[in-house]
Order: sequence, then structure tokens, then C-alpha cells
Amino acid sequence: MAVNAWQPLAPHRAGLWWLALANVPLETWSRWMSLLDEEEQARAVRFVHERDRQPFIAAHALLRILLQQLAGRPADAWRFVSGSHGKPSLHPDHRLDRLAFNLSHTRGAVACAITLDHAIGVDIEQVERSTRLVDIADSHFAPAERALLRSAPAAEQRALFFRLWTLKEAYIKAHGDGLSLPLDQFAFTLAPLAIGFDPAIRDDPAAWQFCIVTPTPTHILSLAVRHGGTTIAVTADQVTHLDIDRLMPASARG
Ligand SMILES: CC(C)(COP(=O)(O)OP(=O)(O)OC[C@H]1O[C@@H](n2cnc3c(N)ncnc32)[C@H](O)[C@@H]1OP(=O)(O)O)[C@@H](O)C(=O)NCCC(=O)NCCS
Repeated sequence: MAVNAWQPLAPHRAGLWWLALANVPLETWSRWMSLLDEEEQARAVRFVHERDRQPFIAAHALLRILLQQLAGRPADAWRFVSGSHGKPSLHPDHRLDRLAFNLSHTRGAVACAITLDHAIGVDIEQVERSTRLVDIADSHFAPAERALLRSAPAAEQRALFFRLWTLKEAYIKAHGDGLSLPLDQFAFTLAPLAIGFDPAIRDDPAAWQFCIVTPTPTHILSLAVRHGGTTIAVTADQVTHLDIDRLMPASARG
């Protein structure tokens, strides 16, 4: 990914970036950890397994590098606050109230999305993990989504399940209210890619835009943006560990 290919923050644009972790060299992790603030570092240390710690570090390092490139402050200088349901945003001291972001981490890959003025949410999942797909769909998906899943050929069900799952998560994360939103009261269709709401949910399907990416053969990534009427130009790009290392601020190179 060329640095000059990065889209500047501008109205009606959103950027989605992902980073696959399979080839990240071992010595990288302490360098990326040094980008994180004390609270993030303390959270990283608390993970029991490296396979969970590393995606956490990578997602937060990626976000910080993206903010550095897009909003001109060194990656290790950003501060964050949490909203009522835990959704992070930039610290008010940065005076960038319009900038909205969201991040997601799973085993083997992470993703970040950034935009101006719009609620945004992202979710990445590893599709190979052993999960009782039908049980989860039965307890979390809307009736129309369960029917869609059951009517799909067996060989396509796993990919379909994770498309629906990541879309539902991305919508919830854009919304920011976490799991207080009833998962079975909104439903996605994939063709066309759209959301529908039960009458109990006061939201407008036409205000939302979604996209699905397959960043690696074993991951699915979805983005949700509430544009409120004007279509958003979404760019989706892969970032490599070499990109991050090249963009490390001098203070964190060690
Ligand atoms: C916390 C939650 C927002 C996402 O959790 P998740 O999918 O397990 O994790 P992700 O990696 O995608 O996202 C976590 C990141 O989202 C952000 N986040 C936390 N709370 C958030 C909220 N309320 N809204 C949006 N983003 C939030 C944080 O940056 C967090 O990363 P961090 O913990 O490293 O700071 C929430 O939706 C959840 O607990 N989901 C459980 C999964 C589930 O039952 N899904 C059903 C889908 S059908």
C-alpha cells in the first residue's frame, strides 16, 4: 500500500483497512506495543494467549498509524475515551469531534475503519473457527436470516453465516449501543446488500451503507456506515506489517 494512495479525510468518504497477521515477525510485537498507551498496554498484558494478544496489539497499532497518516499527529500521541457502551472515540483534547473510527480484531487478522461525520462500525471474523453455526443463528439471527441460511447449499453455509454475522456486528458497532440492540430485530439481505428493521427498532434502512470484503481466504470483514442520505465513497485497502514499520514515528522506533 503506497502512502500516497491513502485517501485524505474528506466528507462522504470512508476508509477501511485490514492487516493479516500470518507473516508478522516475532520481533515486531514489542515495537508495535510501544505505540500503545499505558491502558492499552495493560490490557494487552492481560491476554492469556499470544494468539489473542497479538491481534489486540495489531489493531490498536494499526489505528494509531492510520490516525497519524490521516490526521497528522504521531501514532503514539493519540488518546481515547470510551462511550457509555464501551465504544471508543478520540479524546476531546484532540479537537477532532468529526472523526469517527472503529476497530475489530480476530485471530489472524485485524481491521480499522475511519470516516468524518458518520457513525461507523467494522467487524472481522475468522471463518474457520469451530462454531456451532446453526445454534448461534437460532439464538441470534432474525427469522429471515435463519431461513436464508437454511436454504443455502451446505458448502456455502459457513461463508454465508459469517457474512451475516459480521454485518450484524458492524451495524451494532456503528450504532454504538452494543448488545442492548436486539439482534433478531434487524435482518440483512445479501442481494441486494441491505438491512431491514422490525417496527420496534426506529431506524431507516435507507440511511445505511454496508460493504463486505474477503481480506484473506479465512476471514470475512464487514463495514457499516450511517450516511443519512448521501452515498459514501468507501476505499478498502490491505496494510502490511512492513507498511506499519515504515511509518513508525521516530519516538517509537527503539
Ligand atoms: C464488544 C462488541 C461491540 C464487539 O465485540 P467483538 O465482535 O467480540 O470484538 P471486535 O474485535 O469486533 O471489536 C472490539 C472493539 O470494538 C470497539 N468497541 C467496544 N465497545 C464497542 C461498542 N459498544 N460499539 C462499537 N465498538 C465498540 C473497541 O475498540 C473494541 O476493541 P478493544 O476491546 O481492543 O478496545 C459487542 O458487539 C459484543 O460483545 N459482541 C459479542 C459477539 C456477539 O454475540 N455477536 C452476535 C452477532 S450475530
